[in-house]
Amino acid sequence: MEPFVRILPDADALARAAAEEFVSRARSSVEAKGTFVAALSGGHTPRRAYELLGGTEARGRVDWRRTKIFLVDERHVPYRDPDSNYRMIHEALTSGGALPPGCIERYETEGDDPAAIARDGEERLREYFRLGPGELPRFDLVLLGMGADGHTASIFPGTTAVDERERLVAAVRVEKLDTWRFTLTLPVIDHAAAVVFLVSGSGKAATLRTVLREPGAGLPAQRVRPVGGPPLWLVDRAAASALER
Ligand code: 6PG
Repeated sequence: MEPFVRILPDADALARAAAEEFVSRARSSVEAKGTFVAALSGGHTPRRAYELLGGTEARGRVDWRRTKIFLVDERHVPYRDPDSNYRMIHEALTSGGALPPGCIERYETEGDDPAAIARDGEERLREYFRLGPGELPRFDLVLLGMGADGHTASIFPGTTAVDERERLVAAVRVEKLDTWRFTLTLPVIDHAAAVVFLVSGSGKAATLRTVLREPGAGLPAQRVRPVGGPPLWLVDRAAASALER
């Protein structure tokens, strides 16, 4: 399964391409079934794309009343914390005006028990998608990032999340960051109708090359194998700089 790779000239073009991808998938999903359900990643890379989507330029292009956003992953911080993915995504998507209440679902990260936080996140998915036992949610779009260590979502190399097949949401102890993360698991990501990676900057060029050119390297980002077809990789020229070597 060959991934599709689209190289954009710079970070701004990357953000625009990601925002367009979101808009066109939102439109076709709403047309086809009346709703659009996406899972969005945190981190730095997608922020500009979310600001474009939330800004005045995009007004009217996404039917937010028919859109539901879940988080791909979250950090173990209160939702007002500067490190909170919910906070970043909420701020960026509302930069040009409010969203309908409840449009963005968050994790209850205020609690002390990581397993309970993950269970609650899973319960919210089960409820929204009305899942029976053993069923997986089907997102219309999952937007992922990638770290220089090859992690995606909060599925870090060497953590239990890499091989999690039962849970929809996992609590992951990330020793090198001395923290807990909460993440959608690979079966959930793979069940999405579309998976798009966003990668920016020369600091990720070597890892991107490994992920795309060395199938046996076993990095978490390579373990994403959507049932609906290969992921789309939107990358800027700096991130793509090692691909032709
Ligand atoms: C997070 C993420 C994570 C992110 C990568 C890339 O919470 O950090 O969702 O998986 O996508 O770490 O992050 P950057 O875009 O900040 O490089």
